[in-house]
Amino acid sequence: MGAKGLLILKLLMFQGLFISHSQYADFDFFYLVLQWPGAYCDTNRSCCYPTSGKPAADFGIHGLWPYYVDGLYPSHCSPDSKFNQSQISDLVSSLKTKWPTLSCPSNEGFKLWEQEWKEHGTCSESVMNQHDYFEKTLKLRDRVNLLQILTNSGIKPDDGFYDLQSIKDAIKQEIGFTPGIECNKDPELNNQLHRIYLCVDTSGTEFIGCPALPKERCSSILQFSKF
Ligand SMILES: *[C@@H]1O[C@H](CO)[C@@H](O)[C@H](O)[C@H]1NC(C)=O
Ligand SMILES: *[C@@H]1O[C@H](CO)[C@@H](O)[C@H](O)[C@H]1NC(C)=O
Repeated sequence: MGAKGLLILKLLMFQGLFISHSQYADFDFFYLVLQWPGAYCDTNRSCCYPTSGKPAADFGIHGLWPYYVDGLYPSHCSPDSKFNQSQISDLVSSLKTKWPTLSCPSNEGFKLWEQEWKEHGTCSESVMNQHDYFEKTLKLRDRVNLLQILTNSGIKPDDGFYDLQSIKDAIKQEIGFTPGIECNKDPELNNQLHRIYLCVDTSGTEFIGCPALPKERCSSILQFSKF
């Protein structure tokens, strides 16, 4: 083999080494799912405030979900990877304000965080450990103030009815990408703004255009409920 051949071989070996040591995600992208607490609570099922009290009237985190472009998602990827509270002890106060639980019976939030870790977080272990999973999700939430974005466009949580398209447009204008919107129904069967989906790259740091949007179950006019 000539010197050139050897060089190419070395390059290939180096590349192979690089690839096997770099973090290689086994999913396509993340959904950062944010939730309006007013809509979560304003249903027949109702809600329970966490033990720390009524959460702020702001979008809270619901989860960070690894997804495939075909619309399917992996879940419960490693039953052996137990949720370990002590690994996120430095994040608990932020989790309580930004990732508040609303499920009943009232609790601190560890149930929700454990459930999100087991169902979704364990499927992103190829790129981040448990601490990173929660820390990165909190950082993403800090980078986009959805309530401010909507309020600036005159869309307020005042039980008023707003255009679905104008909600999407306001967010697209600010972050550059069209979000996914999910609605639920209040006891009077009004459609209300429940969850907003933003797409994030596999490293969990940058917002990206959504390779796929979740199925929309909103009417073209929807309510932004008070909280
Ligand atoms: C939980 O994490 C702590 C801190 O990293 C570690 O010392 C402990 O062994 C872990 N517990 C279990 C059950 O893995
Ligand atoms: C909520 O309960 C009311 C009264 O029982 C019922 O008419 C309505 O259909 C329910 N709404 C939903 C969304 O299930």
